[in-house]
Amino acid sequence: NNMVKIAPSILSADFSKLGEDVKRVDKAGADYIHIDVMDGQFVPNITFGPALISSIRPVTDLVFDVHLMMVEPERFIEEFAEAGSDIITVHAESTKHLHRVIQQIKASGVKAGVVINPGTPVEMIKPVLSMVDLVLVMTVNPGFGGQKFITECLDKVTELAELRKEKQYIYEIEVDGGVDDETAKECVAAGADVLVAGSYVYKYDDVSTPINKLKEAKK
Ligand code: DX5
Ligand code: ZN
Repeated sequence: NNMVKIAPSILSADFSKLGEDVKRVDKAGADYIHIDVMDGQFVPNITFGPALISSIRPVTDLVFDVHLMMVEPERFIEEFAEAGSDIITVHAESTKHLHRVIQQIKASGVKAGVVINPGTPVEMIKPVLSMVDLVLVMTVNPGFGGQKFITECLDKVTELAELRKEKQYIYEIEVDGGVDDETAKECVAAGADVLVAGSYVYKYDDVSTPINKLKEAKK
């Protein structure tokens, strides 16, 4: 199926009623729940850990797409898997042992993703592309919601789509940062399969409006 998947980021939800905000995007047709874990070291912001993921696990059956923005994620993979993650995605820039941490994620029984910052080339992750279920291309510098989309990053989406075809890899390509109804079209045209959107989704009272608009950004 060729439909683009939508992954609302709960970073832009109202934390005082997080469960409700997860249910709202579920009802509105979201595919994944994107969960941004920030440690105050890899990025200049702090969010949440495994305990929060466990707390919201019972409120939805949607895929939990966990984006780890932390140094040395290998220290916490099992905890995040046990908390109810379905996909755990680690930054290529965050560990000395990218290949090993991807093996570790798979051994913990969940899907493995790799993510690159705007300043990092696809070249850096080529050695692990055969192993991963998801490649996330950051379209802002990670740390905060509501930043401006960096168009240049889309060249990497195209490159990843070409590599996948050439080598018969199986990963989905996801984009994260500054995605709205306009930039979504460019992302899908470049080859993105999954769109993360935080501020664009949660600024609406009726979240089915932005989710439907993002879904219309067809291939
Ligand atoms: C940024 C996070 C994003 C963030 C996106 O570091 O990885 O997932 O929530 O927010 P928007 O969609 O507002 O750019
Ligand atoms: Zn994210």
